[in-house]
Amino acid sequence: MLRRAALNPNHWYAVARDVELGDRPLAVMLWHQSIVLFRDGDGVVRALENRCPHRQVQLSHGQVVGDRLVCAYHGWGFDGQGRCVDVPYLGEKQRLPRCGVRRYPVLEQDGFIWVFPGDVESADGCRPLPLPEWEHLNYIAAVTPVDVQAHFSFLIENLMDMYHGHLHDDLQAWANPKLASLESGVGRVDAHYDAESYYTIDKIYSISQLFFKSLRKLHPAPLDVSYVYPNWVATLGDEFKIVCLFCPVSETQTRAYLMHFTSLKPFWRLHKLPVGFRRWVKDRCFNAARGLLAGLVEQDVVMIEEEQASFESHPERRSYELNPTVGAVQKLIRVQTDSR
Ligand code: FES
Ligand SMILES: [Fe+2]
Repeated sequence: MLRRAALNPNHWYAVARDVELGDRPLAVMLWHQSIVLFRDGDGVVRALENRCPHRQVQLSHGQVVGDRLVCAYHGWGFDGQGRCVDVPYLGEKQRLPRCGVRRYPVLEQDGFIWVFPGDVESADGCRPLPLPEWEHLNYIAAVTPVDVQAHFSFLIENLMDMYHGHLHDDLQAWANPKLASLESGVGRVDAHYDAESYYTIDKIYSISQLFFKSLRKLHPAPLDVSYVYPNWVATLGDEFKIVCLFCPVSETQTRAYLMHFTSLKPFWRLHKLPVGFRRWVKDRCFNAARGLLAGLVEQDVVMIEEEQASFESHPERRSYELNPTVGAVQKLIRVQTDSR
């Protein structure tokens, strides 16, 4: 059933931002699995099942010593492969217990920590969604986490159905979308809407459009949205790119990171300035649009959680859908779930 569909584990999932992981271990949840992240002595990220095989407490309560994650309770140490490599009170005649926990393929890319919960052998044949704008000096980024008590299908349907702008009023950057075409490919759905954008980012004072509605002028702009399983990518004209990275927690809980990139491409003078200065501008402006993003998310979360609650109390009720994009998304989820 769609609203209970499992994720396809053979993809990379963004489970945390890289800045969330410091010296201490960090616990994250990905589809019913508690995972502990930590950095080894070289700063390389490791991901293990968050369970000490000694007494089954969470390893994330422990601390990192050198290359080892040391359990808080009796101090057993585990290496990055999840093997028990130290018991501090091991007797002279005792051997190290041959126990360990599951290791997950993990990597850092474009500001996020990505975990591969599927077959370890398949991890190398697959890459996380590239986000070149995260580091690129021509883009200003904003990011906000999304925590919604709902199945991930409700969230992706919300993101792919641009006809729900009714909910957001003047918080969103576009208006009057009309579905122009829809394509379904292997592992993805691409929907192209003809829309209008409120913002024109061509002058340094374009930023004032954010605060003064009267400065905004609607002009035609293509709005392309894609479900690149398991994530979502959208572009509005040449100015904006929006991405949502999915980290489904369970059938009724989804975590995601919603990101917004504003292009600085039209400011050609800026690009002639020293890289250090451009980096400073990028860093200074980081998260300037976060308030807007968070406002959108807040409105969406109310609706999505209500959809989930209605489904729980009346799973037999049929919804009516006019946007074919939603059907294509549902089909892709089913295909991915079945191909696990
Ligand atoms: S429970 Fe982890 S060392 Fe004992
Ligand atoms: Fe929305």
